[in-house]
Amino acid sequence: MVESYSYGNNQTYQDEEAIASAKRHIKEIRTKKYSIGKKEANPLTLDLHHAVTSLSAELYQKDIHFLMELIQNAEDNEYEEGVEPTLEFVMTKKDITGSGAPATLLVFNNEVGFSRKNMDSICSVGRSTKKGKRQRGFIGEKGIGFKSVFLVSSQPWIFSNGYRVRFTEEPNQYCGIRYVVPEFVTRRPYLSRICNAYGSNKILPTTIFVLPLKPDKVEAVRAQLSDLHPEILLFFSKIK
Ligand SMILES: Nc1ncnc2c1ncn2[C@@H]1O[C@H](COP(=O)(O)OP(=O)(O)OP(=O)(O)O)[C@@H](O)[C@H]1O
Ligand SMILES: [Mg+2]
Repeated sequence: MVESYSYGNNQTYQDEEAIASAKRHIKEIRTKKYSIGKKEANPLTLDLHHAVTSLSAELYQKDIHFLMELIQNAEDNEYEEGVEPTLEFVMTKKDITGSGAPATLLVFNNEVGFSRKNMDSICSVGRSTKKGKRQRGFIGEKGIGFKSVFLVSSQPWIFSNGYRVRFTEEPNQYCGIRYVVPEFVTRRPYLSRICNAYGSNKILPTTIFVLPLKPDKVEAVRAQLSDLHPEILLFFSKIK
């Protein structure tokens, strides 16, 4: 299909092969792991549903600083040589996802991007790709940090290396599980909206998180963003 707008030089976001392969991977996760579209449900699905639900209760009890979790993940990420590891936050009142959110937080990171393993891990609970690697400098290890974004967004989206994926706080309509069931987003205008929010003359970084904010969290997120002091960079060695 010919697109009626331009992405400038954002080749990664137009790489049809990467998108097709990402799409196949997401379909595989949905069918193999969550038995979506299969006649027989996976007997472990109910266990997972309970585990994820109690995890969410825990997340909501603690006031987890979701921005810190995103920053830590960016610090753990891989970067190509010569790239200055950068994480950028953009808050916009534009409804990027068309979900009716009063504001959206966009997070841009110029890392190498999500691998299959990273995607498998984020579509799980407690299956960190960094387990046992603390001594090698990784901060993450539990495999739940990212889920703290659900405190502020009921449907976080990830764009990276061909993946265009949405997760939902609402239990998935087919398997009843929340937070970890990926949904491939095929409609494309979102990307042009993201480009516009980032600055249409700039090249989009490889990984983008799109967080349409819950109406009652907009102010809190704004406050958390302005509370981020440059000094926190002292605790990180990569991120600039
Ligand atoms: N920005 C990112 N780029 C690539 N992969 C990521 C990114 N953020 C998360 N991941 C992948 O998703 C997994 C889950 O992330 P999450 O933050 O939930 O857990 P963690 O960082 O492994 O451990 P912790 O719970 O201690 O934060 C990671 O192990 C990593 O493989
Ligand atoms: Mg983490």
